[in-house]
Amino acid sequence: MKIAMIGTGYVGLVSGACIADFGHQVTCVDKDASKITALNAGEIQIFEPGLKELVASNVRQRRLSFTTSLADGLDGAAAVFIAVGTPSRRGDGHADLSYVYGAAREIAAALKGFTVIITKSTVPVGTGDDVERIIRELRPDVDIAVVSNPEFLREGAAIYDFKHPDRIVIGIEDERAKAAMTEIYRPLFLNHAPILYTGRRTAELIKYAANAFLATKITFINEIADLCERVGADVQEVARGIGLDNRIGSKFLHAGPGFGGSCFPKDVRALIKTAQDYDVPMRILEAVEGVNDTRKRAMARKVSAAFAGVLRGKTVAILGLTFKPNTDDMREAPSIPLIMALQDMGAKVRVHDPEGMQQAKQVLANVTYCEGPYDCVEDADAAVIVTEWEQFRALDFDRLRDLMACPVIVDLRNIYRPEDMKRLGFAYTCVGRSSAFQPVTVYVPTGQQVRPSAETTGASSAMAPRN
Ligand SMILES: NC(=O)c1ccc[n+]([C@@H]2O[C@H](COP(=O)([O-])OP(=O)(O)OC[C@H]3O[C@@H](n4cnc5c(N)ncnc54)[C@H](O)[C@@H]3O)[C@@H](O)[C@H]2O)c1
Repeated sequence: MKIAMIGTGYVGLVSGACIADFGHQVTCVDKDASKITALNAGEIQIFEPGLKELVASNVRQRRLSFTTSLADGLDGAAAVFIAVGTPSRRGDGHADLSYVYGAAREIAAALKGFTVIITKSTVPVGTGDDVERIIRELRPDVDIAVVSNPEFLREGAAIYDFKHPDRIVIGIEDERAKAAMTEIYRPLFLNHAPILYTGRRTAELIKYAANAFLATKITFINEIADLCERVGADVQEVARGIGLDNRIGSKFLHAGPGFGGSCFPKDVRALIKTAQDYDVPMRILEAVEGVNDTRKRAMARKVSAAFAGVLRGKTVAILGLTFKPNTDDMREAPSIPLIMALQDMGAKVRVHDPEGMQQAKQVLANVTYCEGPYDCVEDADAAVIVTEWEQFRALDFDRLRDLMACPVIVDLRNIYRPEDMKRLGFAYTCVGRSSAFQPVTVYVPTGQQVRPSAETTGASSAMAPRN
């Protein structure tokens, strides 16, 4: 089957390459000429594990091609996917549908015969109706069917997720389109991936409800983590204790610095806005959004607590910038407000991320970019683990302690054990594990240096700042 994919971002390129890998003929279209030039030269501007190889192999087998011309991409195509961005609209937080509507108008201009138009972008309820209206108004002469097929892949595991989906949601109002969708996803049908056929509006809402629920789950465990710190409980054990209940499930119960990324924040915001428009306030989601926004910046206080609240003149090393590991995506990463808060407190910030530095340079100013974790912590007064990259899971702490000016670790992903860190001579703070909450007064507010006592830190003399 010949298929066009509009948008070669994280979703469009992965979807296009995977659908080509199923055996279809896919042309990916992007209006960003630099992306297409790079793709035609065998280069990929985003980092997604396995994607480069998958694209190369399908290009080699002549099933996957790239163009900036939608007319070329649509020529002879039986189906076209819209996988363009739907960021938050500046000013009011609604989903910005200008790219989707723009794509719809361009599709209308290029249509020839019956074509199935599939919205893969995350779009508010009723967008499918708008896409259909736009195209029918512009091209009353052509036959179309507009389908909603939201995508649930996770960046960092996108290819696996696309090929092994928990479910495929297809919002459809036209039987002919059903045949086309069955053909496109045939390999997944054969693997018995559950397929949920729904109305188009229902499919659109399923995507938002799924993301909003997951964001709520994260925010819930984050608030429980805060309580754990106060009452002397361990959030990881609480999470395990509740997660073993099948009604709850163990996923998305990892306490941390708050959710970020290209989807959850904007999708929560957009669902709240949609609901307000229909006079159905989403109080839970409003709380989730507020709690999460405050949290990212509040994480800076975990760092300043190690210095009696005074960070002016201190150097903080940030390990991990992207919103999660295995991606270079910096959109709404918690590291951004955290770093800004540290800078507002007067700290100098050094950063390292295995893949996200290039994107970070577009959003983070006045930080020192470092080649590796050890380079990053050199002479730092504190190191903050913000993203749980594999590279940070087995750090050489003897080396770290020698390099740092002060052995203070703030682990916002709970990847180390408090007792190990204590044994290694670090002042260690994490999230929701009270046993790790060791107030370390290394400096008094006047800037006069004081040595942390074993009483306040529970640590050995290795705690003393390196001179
Ligand atoms: N990133 C994710 O993990 C993820 C997961 C599930 C769903 N989604 C949803 O998928 C959609 C796409 O997300 P993304 O992260 O891939 O976005 P992205 O910003 O990475 O990519 C969008 C691409 O579309 C291109 N584009 C915009 N208008 C175009 C047009 N008229 N013609 C051709 N190309 C055009 C842009 O140049 C860009 O390359 C969004 O609605 C998002 O919410 C994203």
